[in-house]
Formats: sequence, structure tokens, C-alpha cells
Amino acid sequence: MKVTIKEIANAAGVSIATVSKVVNGKDHNITPATRQRVLETINELNYVPNRIASSMITKNTYTIGLVIPDITNPFFPEVARGVEDYANQAGYHVVLCNSDNNLKKESTYIYMLQEKMVDGIIITSSTSSVREESARNYMKIGIPIITVDRDMKDFKTQGKILVDNTKGAFEAVSYMIEKGYKKILHLSGSMNSTPSIQRFEGYKNALKYHNIDFDPDLYLEGTYDVEWGYEGIKKIMDKKIDFDSVFCGNDLIAIGAMKAIKELGLRIPEDIGIMGFDNIYIASVVTPSLSTVNQPNYKMGYKAAELLINFIKNPSKPDDEVVLETELIIRESTL
Ligand code: RIB
Repeated sequence: MKVTIKEIANAAGVSIATVSKVVNGKDHNITPATRQRVLETINELNYVPNRIASSMITKNTYTIGLVIPDITNPFFPEVARGVEDYANQAGYHVVLCNSDNNLKKESTYIYMLQEKMVDGIIITSSTSSVREESARNYMKIGIPIITVDRDMKDFKTQGKILVDNTKGAFEAVSYMIEKGYKKILHLSGSMNSTPSIQRFEGYKNALKYHNIDFDPDLYLEGTYDVEWGYEGIKKIMDKKIDFDSVFCGNDLIAIGAMKAIKELGLRIPEDIGIMGFDNIYIASVVTPSLSTVNQPNYKMGYKAAELLINFIKNPSKPDDEVVLETELIIRESTL
């Protein structure tokens, strides 16, 4: 039989309120001796607090939701680790949801998390606009939402953790041009996400700054995965379009592009330079190691959880937008 909070109180010789305060970490006005006695009794009787019951009183479940678009992309587990580390030290648990870049699935998760009474949600959305019918659950949200990495143009959130993608892309492509590359192919992620739009802007800004005309034949939109990088190189080769380097929307695209270029018998970086974006762990161990743009992946998650939990504790806190810096990381895949 489950041990009740009343049985703990009786066995420890204290009130139910005292046991509740110890369990919920709100025991600052309880003597250490009483706190110790309650904890020992809980341990002896194997008491497990009923979080759903206590949440009916405190209205807090000390649980937050994290919705990411692609759990197979190493960028997101690094963000999730940051979320979990901050949340756990603050006394919160995290429910992880993978939307598979599917807005309907994402919207269903948003609804489910509210049914489970999470105290707030951190999300990297699969889309930059939630006006679509399949996103209708967004319009019913009644708990704090923090977006991380991808901004949502038409949805008000309580905070955002972003990076300056345009600046990061500008610096990366400028580096490539200054190393002598002139025909830079851009294989982007989906233009349905703000990082893709901003990186494309940074790419065009760098070309313009260095007096190189933008050539629409050297831009192909795809998805943030290895398959697209591989397929994008095959496509450009089939079109017999000349290029001497590739600026990729993320590291997975770059890894796919490297595979295709090696299969063509071309040398990296002498024949073709490759630049990624994210600086996931794999970028440093592939051969040749990948030049890329570092995103503070872990810190983005950590700051997102900090922003959300601070907002849960202090709902009158004004909305906040944090834009973190990227850093150019030069390795073997560029001159
Ligand atoms: O690699 C996945 C991409 O999607 C990252 O660049 C990140 O910015 C996310 O938007």
C-alpha cells in the first residue's frame, strides 16, 4: 500500500503541513532537527510524494517541457543537456518531446504538455509561423513559453534565446572569400526556419561586401541533414555549375557534402573548401576536420531554462530576448 503524507506526519510527530514543506523544499522556518526527523521517516517508510496531488495545491508540478524538431541532429541533444542541467539544479524535471520537424506533431505535444500540467515549455519550433491550422494548439497556450534557437515571427513568447546567425554567416563566408574562394555554393536548411533565412542573408551580405555578385545558381534550399548535403552536391554537379567551395547551413549538410565531393575524387580543401555551422562534436572528428561556426549550444539550453524558471517564479518579470555570439572555428576543410 502507498504510504500517505498523514502516516509520515504521525510517525514523525509533526503536522501534515510540516511534511509538505520539507518535501517541497520550503522548509526554511523548520528546525534542522525536525527536518532531519521527517526525512528519516520518509526514508524508513519509503514515502513517494504524490506530485499531482501537491500540484493541485501549489499549482506547480516542478516540471517543464522541452520540444525539439530533430533528436537525431546532435545540435539539439547539446541544447537539451543545457536545459536539463539548469532545470535539475533548480529542482525541476524535464519532459523531452521530439517533433520530427512536423508541425502537427509539435502542436499535439504542446497540448499534451499542458494536459500534464507542466509549468512552462521551451521550444525550438519546426516552423517560423504558427498561423497554420495544424498549429492551432499554440493559440490555446496558457503557460510561459521560451523559444530557443529559432524565432517565431507571429507568436508572442515570454523570452527568446537566439544567436546572431546573420553575423556568424557573414564572418564565415568573408573568411572563405579572403582565402581565395570565389564561387561559393550555399546549401541551406529549410527557409521555414529563421536561422536559415538569417544565414542566407549573411552569405549574401558577405558576397556584396567583397564585390562578388550573388549567383542564384549557387544557392540551393534543402533540409538540415546529411542526405541533403550529399544530394545538393550531386544536383549542382548534374547542372554542370562550377563552384570552388560550399557554405553549408549546418554541420550535417557539410558532412553529406564532404562525402559527395570525396566520391568525385576532389580534394578538400585544395579543390573544394567546406564550411559548416553549429560546431557539433562530430565536426572536430571527421576527416578532414570541419571548419564551422560555433553556436553556444549548451549555453543556449541552459539560459533558456534559466529564463523560463525565473519567469515561472516571477510571472510579472518582463519578457526577455537574449542574443548570444557565434565564433568562427577554422579547421582542415578550408584553406
Ligand atoms: O543543425 C540544426 C540547425 O537547426 C542548427 O543550425 C540550429 O540553428 C537549428 O536551427
